[in-house]
Amino acid sequence: MTVLPVPDTAIIVVAAGSGTRLSAGAPKALVGIDGRSILRHALDGVFAASPMQVIVVAPAGFEGEAEAELLAAAGDRADLGRVVTGGSTRQLSVAAGLGALWGDVTTVLVHDAARALTAATQIDAVVRAVTGDAGVIPVLPVVDTLKRVDGATVVGAVDRSELAAAQTPQGFPRRPLEAAYATALASGIEYTDDAALYAASGHDVRHIAGSERAFKITTPADLERARHLLSAASAPGVPVIGIGTDVHAFGGEGDLWLAGLEWPGEPALSGHSDGDAVAHAIVDALLGGAGLGDIGLHFGTSHPEYAGAHAEVFLARTLDLVTEAGWSIGNIAVQFQGNRPRFSTRRPEAEQVLSNALGGARVTVSATTTDGLGFSGRGEGISVTAIAMLIPAS
Ligand code: CTP
Ligand code: MG
Repeated sequence: MTVLPVPDTAIIVVAAGSGTRLSAGAPKALVGIDGRSILRHALDGVFAASPMQVIVVAPAGFEGEAEAELLAAAGDRADLGRVVTGGSTRQLSVAAGLGALWGDVTTVLVHDAARALTAATQIDAVVRAVTGDAGVIPVLPVVDTLKRVDGATVVGAVDRSELAAAQTPQGFPRRPLEAAYATALASGIEYTDDAALYAASGHDVRHIAGSERAFKITTPADLERARHLLSAASAPGVPVIGIGTDVHAFGGEGDLWLAGLEWPGEPALSGHSDGDAVAHAIVDALLGGAGLGDIGLHFGTSHPEYAGAHAEVFLARTLDLVTEAGWSIGNIAVQFQGNRPRFSTRRPEAEQVLSNALGGARVTVSATTTDGLGFSGRGEGISVTAIAMLIPAS
């Protein structure tokens, strides 16, 4: 008999909520997205991550259903899984999960089953980020403009650059988390999430980048979104395409940056970052094709860290996003319209730089003038169209 190493990490998947806001007539975790339930999808992500103890916290009376989903998702890792019964609040459900941890576990992740499409890469990233005493949470930047209101009156603006939207899994060192839970349960205080509970015990919490796909299914519209994402990704082997366009005017500072290259002596394009309209159109084509929104969502003015950034930075991050969402890049074709720069002599160099930034994907770029017509013909700016082909990874 082989003795498998006992994992030092555990994930508690809380699935015991009733799903009042979804109101689908069953506990939320057992509601179907496609042919599979919310819980099953969440567990598919968990078991695609590195091996860890998996504790599913089920709604009382539905332990058998949860067990069946666990076995179906676990494959040959069934020994790592276990179902416990949840409590009347999320906090009590997590506490029930903590009670089932194996002795060797030193790192604990707490994950909402409702974040059903969370990628295994996000789970592993949280595991890796838990070091020392600090907790770790994945977050997304806040994209909406936020207001403070009092009754019907808007009383002020909120600086969203100071804010982030928390996701799961949230990761913690085991003993301090258990102590923090004991303190919280004794105090009777209900915290909004595990990170808040952990911080209330005086510990630091750090953040890493979350992902659009880890959104929480709360309302019927969220369930539709999950269905849409899965149907987009579920035709095995069938590629999809995405399209992106970008227009920038000349009038920026310094030298031109275009197609990943610096063009000394050429007039610069204006815009957030370096104005590289070729790179921006590629980003939109990739994000759009992958169903991940667009450049404004991931790199807009709410992300000051990208001010002045060049193509490699945008493209590398975009490659991460589409890879994490389960796509590989087939090819990218780009054409820009503009009188200058004279592109053909540097085409091979540009294609190489763009391809390198995208993990070696095939990128081709062409340029054309417009016979003096339109803004590009008048030399006022550049207009770019990019098409990307994406292939589902498996
Ligand atoms: N959860 C839990 N036990 C509870 C309440 C919630 O395990 N007593 C879990 C849910 O199953 C979910 C996660 O905590 O995976 C986040 O909670 P939420 O999205 O609010 O789910 P529900 O409480 O089920 O939904 P609602 O608030 O709409 O009733
Ligand atoms: Mg709830």
